[in-house]
Amino acid sequence: NPLQGAQFVLAAHRISQLPADQGAEVAFAGRSNAGKSSALNALTGHRGLARTSKTPGRTQQMVAFSLPPLPPVAGEAPFDARLIDLPGYGYAKVPEDLRAHWKTEIDAYLHQRRSLRGVVLIADIRHPLKEFDRMMLDFCFATALPCHLLLTKADKLSRSQAMQTVAAMRRQFAAEERQATVQGFSSSAPTGVDEARARVLELLRQ
Ligand code: GTP
Ligand code: MG
Repeated sequence: NPLQGAQFVLAAHRISQLPADQGAEVAFAGRSNAGKSSALNALTGHRGLARTSKTPGRTQQMVAFSLPPLPPVAGEAPFDARLIDLPGYGYAKVPEDLRAHWKTEIDAYLHQRRSLRGVVLIADIRHPLKEFDRMMLDFCFATALPCHLLLTKADKLSRSQAMQTVAAMRRQFAAEERQATVQGFSSSAPTGVDEARARVLELLRQ
């Protein structure tokens, strides 16, 4: 697992505090409590790497994790790679000024971060594509930023319900001519971890 060597680097309150903008980065975005931090832990194979919580609004910082230099693709030198856990979006109990702050920072991050190679958008498979998810998909589409949608907590549905939801989302994206890829996922089952990891590596390497 090439993501296994992931290490905590820092937690930033604004984008200026993030690690130097070089190499390649993939950001994990999604609504509060969707399961972003859990997905990061499942993908890196570290239970306690990103802090998870039953209380929504747990991650109120941008948390950067560094990866060991990735095995080079034919003819390329290894490069710095990072994963970024973004603060959850859309939790009502987070004070208004803090929510406004994160809206500004996430927006600036998505627009300005040159090392950003793609977004892993994480949504609860039982309630996919709420307003924030739509905004993120629209942003990725408008800026041609690759997006991989993880429909997580698939363990909360039957196998066939989960497969139907994923298939319906794929049809919808095809109809909307969106480039985004979709898969079912579960951090706790676990399900879809290898597929998601392969996609993250693909995003980092492009
Ligand atoms: P914030 O940091 O608050 O934005 O949340 P987050 O998106 O990082 O969610 P987190 O990973 O902390 O998970 C939120 C809750 O959902 C926790 O109680 C997790 O145990 C639970 N959870 C996460 N992933 C799964 C999953 O795949 N299946 C199930 N059943 N529960 C999950
Ligand atoms: Mg979190």
